[in-house]
Amino acid sequence: MEKLWKGRTDGKVDKTAEDLNASITFDKRLYKEDITGSIAHAKMLSRQGIITAAEETEITRGLISILNDINSGRLVIDDSAEDIHTFIEGELTSRIGVSGKKLHTARSRNDQVALDMRMYLKAKCDETEEKLVALIEVLCDKAEKYSDAVMPGYTHMQPAQPITYGHYLMAYTAMFLRDADRIKDCKKRIDVSPIGSLALAGTTYNSDRFYEASLLGFKEVGINSIDGVSDRDFCVEILSALAIIQTHLSRFAEETVLWSTQEFGYITLSDEYTTGSSIMPQKKNPDMAELVRGKTGRVYGDLMAMLTVLKGLPLAYNKDMQEDKECVFDGVDTVLKCLEVFTKMIKSAEPNLKKMRAAANVGFLNATDLADYLVKKGEAFRTAYKICGEIVAECIAKGKTLESFTLEEYKNHSELFSEDLYDAIDLDACVKRRTSYGGTSPSGVKKQIEIVRESLKKLK
Ligand code: ARG
Repeated sequence: MEKLWKGRTDGKVDKTAEDLNASITFDKRLYKEDITGSIAHAKMLSRQGIITAAEETEITRGLISILNDINSGRLVIDDSAEDIHTFIEGELTSRIGVSGKKLHTARSRNDQVALDMRMYLKAKCDETEEKLVALIEVLCDKAEKYSDAVMPGYTHMQPAQPITYGHYLMAYTAMFLRDADRIKDCKKRIDVSPIGSLALAGTTYNSDRFYEASLLGFKEVGINSIDGVSDRDFCVEILSALAIIQTHLSRFAEETVLWSTQEFGYITLSDEYTTGSSIMPQKKNPDMAELVRGKTGRVYGDLMAMLTVLKGLPLAYNKDMQEDKECVFDGVDTVLKCLEVFTKMIKSAEPNLKKMRAAANVGFLNATDLADYLVKKGEAFRTAYKICGEIVAECIAKGKTLESFTLEEYKNHSELFSEDLYDAIDLDACVKRRTSYGGTSPSGVKKQIEIVRESLKKLK
């Protein structure tokens, strides 16, 4: 394909240089945004008297036919074109002749590509938010079902205090809710139209940036044309928001791997989200959770690549910026895929409540409640803490639990102990009593579900 910019040079570029320079193999996915942007551009040009209404009609018809042909597969995007903008303009001109050559009046590929990326990412923000909402809904439904299911809560991966499975699941909804909010916030800054910035300095034509932006549904118009073409903060922002989502998914994935082991056995993954081994017939591996965890590294890499591309770039457009695409596309594709699979995997996983409770029965998770019992009987907390620590040590030495430790044995440690201590350390009672705001009690979990569902309504 002939170079758009042939003139100053003969346009003959070394084959390997041409290969390095081209972005068509990855920016062709922007064809819809590019065509939609061009249709709006033609409309603005005609309204402002820069091209005629007849030319606008021809251009629009030509662009729509290209769009339809690409969609139907009749037109295959030619990988020998430099980029998607060049390909579409070239195809338009070959279809409609001289009017096609007028489309690029009062426009540069610099503002055009920034526009395409922003349009693409606005839609992807919505998609990401929808997927987060779907995941949060699944978690709320599960949390509701298991709001009183006792499981061990951990700190340092050591048994800490009893919690409910519902409470555990709701912790993730808090994280994903922040993610959805972050994406929404990112979108505000993506929703600023760069078109009309041209190469960097604006234009001498009587163009109307506000009209063109409104045709494309942008909320704002960028206030500085140099920034309009050199800003890629929005790529960094979306990638960082995606990286945080992936961090959350990865922590959840790690626990999914752990909880589905023989040793923990808290959940059973549905066969659909596991794989087997080519040699060991008994295996059922949590590959999806592992891949979600693994792909997190790749999304962090995308963010790092984007930040590094921008570091030290002089204003305004530099070809380095073409490197925004592959990392943004990869980050978006990866996170969307992970969110979708993860949601289905969690939805179909079955908790094993008996195993959770059995694990909570060992490990002295109710030791804090034993200390609190003494405090309520008048002991100072630090003293109560020490007494209970000694009781735990004695239990370990004798191979007992706090439940099987006799009242007589307890009384050796403090006269304040009486028969009602056993009710105080009952696991169900322990979780039920934690009614502080945000706490693990079944009533607290139900409240959290209510709050999160309310927040989801506001998001929609
Ligand atoms: N393919 C280019 C990119 O993605 C489009 C902008 C080209 N601009 C230029 N001055 N060569 O950044």
